[in-house]
Amino acid sequence: EADLYLSYKGMLLPKAVHTPESLRHFEEFAFRSDDVVIVTYPKSGTTWMQEIVPLVLSGGDPASVETLHNWDRVPWLEETRAPVLNLEDRPSPRMFTTHFHHDMMPASFFTAKPKVIYVMRNPKDVFTSFFHYHGMVSFLVDPNPQSEFLHKFLDGKVIFGTWFDHVKSWLSVDERQRILHISYEDRIVCAQQDLKDAVRKIAQFLEKPLDAEAIERIAHRCLFKNMKKNKMSNYSLVPLDIMDQTKSEFFRKGVVGDWKNQLTVAEAEYFDAVYKEKMKDVKYTFPWD
Ligand code: A3P
Repeated sequence: EADLYLSYKGMLLPKAVHTPESLRHFEEFAFRSDDVVIVTYPKSGTTWMQEIVPLVLSGGDPASVETLHNWDRVPWLEETRAPVLNLEDRPSPRMFTTHFHHDMMPASFFTAKPKVIYVMRNPKDVFTSFFHYHGMVSFLVDPNPQSEFLHKFLDGKVIFGTWFDHVKSWLSVDERQRILHISYEDRIVCAQQDLKDAVRKIAQFLEKPLDAEAIERIAHRCLFKNMKKNKMSNYSLVPLDIMDQTKSEFFRKGVVGDWKNQLTVAEAEYFDAVYKEKMKDVKYTFPWD
């Protein structure tokens, strides 16, 4: 673990993706007020949102998602690639991603007040997706045995800390501060109709009016089965020694409730007990409650 991870502000991060230089770049990053920042705990629907935001901001232009990988078009600000992308020179509106907590954001974030889209997902499904992801990328610890990994997940001894701290951190930011809270269960899954609602809601939040035809086009592109075919979003261009999709595909299932196939009854009960305790002061109503 010590070989793979570094500790930053009490949070474990994969050394392959974050360096002291990239973290310094993050701390000094100058936000603009017209930036759009996608924030997620890993495995909560980041890739989906990285598809939808460029499409919405471009009015549905497919070139917005066909010419760059998701990690270059909506780059993670804390990652090693960020400093080499000349983000300062990008025209507005710029789009970024982060997995960090609200209180870890750089000073300019609090003065520029960019727009934030925070995507959250049932933590038991996040765990399930996280488990399979750890099994296929070389820069993360082996998640076996599952019972041990579950304890690490619930204790925050995994990359980006606990799901609980993450969600509480970003839920504490209220809607008046230009943040849209959206959940995977409400908005992403399955029905084309739901996706249209999601696209409409995001377009409204980003103040980018779209006609019905553009909404339809964007929703269609962002369906699981269509994104899975798109090589700029499906991670198929990542070398096998970094991400081995023969073990588990990045676009694995894209469903709600797969935790039922992953957790034992005892594990699910333990998870629920920890959830109840950690979330007892949270007033938000989640779709999975
Ligand atoms: P599963 O492993 O449960 O299938 P992230 O992008 O934050 O890393 O999250 C990845 C998860 O989101 C994976 O979940 C992936 O299949 C799912 N996902 C990605 N795009 C999706 C889409 N358009 N619709 C539904 N699920 C999607």
